[in-house]
Amino acid sequence: MNKSLVLGGVLLLGLLGGTLVRAADSAEKLRGDGDIWTSSDVVQWQDRDPIPRDYVQQPPMVPHTIEGYTVNIKVNKCLTCHSWANYKEKNATKISQTHFSDREGNALANVSARRYWCTQCHAPQANAAPLVENQFQPLPAISNR
Ligand code: HEC
Ligand code: HEC
Repeated sequence: MNKSLVLGGVLLLGLLGGTLVRAADSAEKLRGDGDIWTSSDVVQWQDRDPIPRDYVQQPPMVPHTIEGYTVNIKVNKCLTCHSWANYKEKNATKISQTHFSDREGNALANVSARRYWCTQCHAPQANAAPLVENQFQPLPAISNR
């Protein structure tokens, strides 16, 4: 084989290898930044205190990251901490009574289907500028800032 071809091949391999290693270094891990021994049950706080609500009946904002918290028809990671069965042990806020009634107001024994998809209403925090400027002020009666 031609010497320069071999040399070219080796160079190409070297370049490819380097790129792959760098990609692996910068890739975000699915389970977050914690090492493999850190339990996914350790809450990663973004804002340790409950975030003040801006209007009556606002779904409270999520004060921790929710990355990797699966919610689908089989599992609901949120409920492993926030359900009435688990909240004490996990030191989390229990979901309120309203999450147990159907749209006719009947009390159910379990979380209502319309309150099952938690992130439909409860938004996590992002360090980003507001998309739209606004001058919204909470009602003085609930303003606790
Ligand atoms: C590993 C346990 C855990 C999981 C899983 C979890 N949370 Fe939490 N969450 C907590 C704890 C602990 C708090 C803080 C309670 C406190 O302030 O005392 C909290 C606080 C909250 C609050 C704020 C309540 C308030 O009154 O301000 C909301 C909303 C919330 N979580 C929503 C969610 C949602 C939605 C999910 C799923 C996407 C989720 N959480 C998954 C542990 C968890
Ligand atoms: C349709 C919107 C909606 C969905 C879906 C929903 N919530 Fe809520 N959530 C609210 C609203 C509104 C409040 C505040 C008023 C109230 O308690 O109903 C609230 C309150 C809470 C609170 C604070 C309770 C307290 O006593 O301060 C927690 C914790 C919570 N929700 C967790 C969850 C979790 C976990 C899920 C998914 C299983 C979920 N929510 C699904 C609207 C929603």
